[in-house]
Amino acid sequence: MSLLFIAPNRDMQPWKQAIIGEAPNIDVEIWPNIEQPDRVQFVACWNQPSHMLDHFPNLKAISSLGAGVDHILADESRPKDVSVCRVVAPSLESQMKNYLLNAVLNLQHNTYRYIRQQMQAQWTIHPRKEKADLSIGVMGLGKLGGPVTQMFANMGYTVNGWSKSAKQLPGIKTHTGPEGLQGFLANTNLLICLLPLTPQTHGILDLKLFKQLHHPAHLINVGRGAHLVEEDLIYAIDRGWMTGATLDVFTEEPLPEYHPFWNRKSIMITPHISSTSKPKEIAPQLVENYKRLLSGMKLQNAVDLQKGY
Ligand SMILES: NC(=O)c1ccc[n+]([C@@H]2O[C@H](COP(=O)([O-])OP(=O)(O)OC[C@H]3O[C@@H](n4cnc5c(N)ncnc54)[C@H](OP(=O)(O)O)[C@@H]3O)[C@@H](O)[C@H]2O)c1
Repeated sequence: MSLLFIAPNRDMQPWKQAIIGEAPNIDVEIWPNIEQPDRVQFVACWNQPSHMLDHFPNLKAISSLGAGVDHILADESRPKDVSVCRVVAPSLESQMKNYLLNAVLNLQHNTYRYIRQQMQAQWTIHPRKEKADLSIGVMGLGKLGGPVTQMFANMGYTVNGWSKSAKQLPGIKTHTGPEGLQGFLANTNLLICLLPLTPQTHGILDLKLFKQLHHPAHLINVGRGAHLVEEDLIYAIDRGWMTGATLDVFTEEPLPEYHPFWNRKSIMITPHISSTSKPKEIAPQLVENYKRLLSGMKLQNAVDLQKGY
């Protein structure tokens, strides 16, 4: 039986070496060089090509190589009786915390404005935003959103959190479900999206939502590109409801050269790097789930297929 990696445009040799380093007896294959498709029982994938997952008659489980599983659940070729799991790792949490802290501090200290000014040898001082000027709202209080929210609260920021089920987090005002959304938004002028992409959250960052924020507001989207209705963000910036956005994820990645976001001074762009999986850290949990699969045990970090995350 074998474990197959499918991740186009990525060097998967370090992943294979990391698996073999953990468990030398596991047979590892890397797409597209699959010698025996009928031996594949476990697929670990990231942005797999469509119409691929039904090529393996003995497939029993699919793992995401990252925290999100939307690329797997949206794949129509996914056999519906196959378990789906994802990865949860300390460095995914610490990278995300660092990215978001950096984004918030850059916003407070006008870093991007000063970088642009330097390019034009321009000396203009802008007022710094103090902590007291910000009310951070985090959408999604899961493995990443929970610790991020706690970090900002511990640093003395005002923080609101929004999730599907009720949560109690020290020092944080939490809001729940569709009925809690309006109150959450009214208290937020720095919105961080850390939701999973599901049918309920697709396009959630739209004009209707931007209108309900405490204006003027800034958006940081590190969830998924499809959470954001991109033209609505531009409209909301032009109307002055939004001061701008820090975006790590996009509907189309890489962001096309002609995309209007590139020329917007108030939009900061990073190429989907806020938190990335490292082979040596993730390999032990892939091996653990592979072994669990073979011995009929419940997988770790299994996805609830009903909830979609
Ligand atoms: N840009 C990057 O590099 C990067 C890296 C890693 C992750 N991500 C993204 O971050 C997402 C979150 O990761 P995670 O590990 O924190 O996920 P998670 O542990 O599954 O947590 C998801 C959170 O979202 C909440 N939620 C889900 N649907 C909701 C809805 N309809 N309304 C309100 N709240 C809802 C959940 O509420 P409950 O707690 O009530 O279930 C939970 O608190 C991933 O799915 C991925 O898309 C991006």
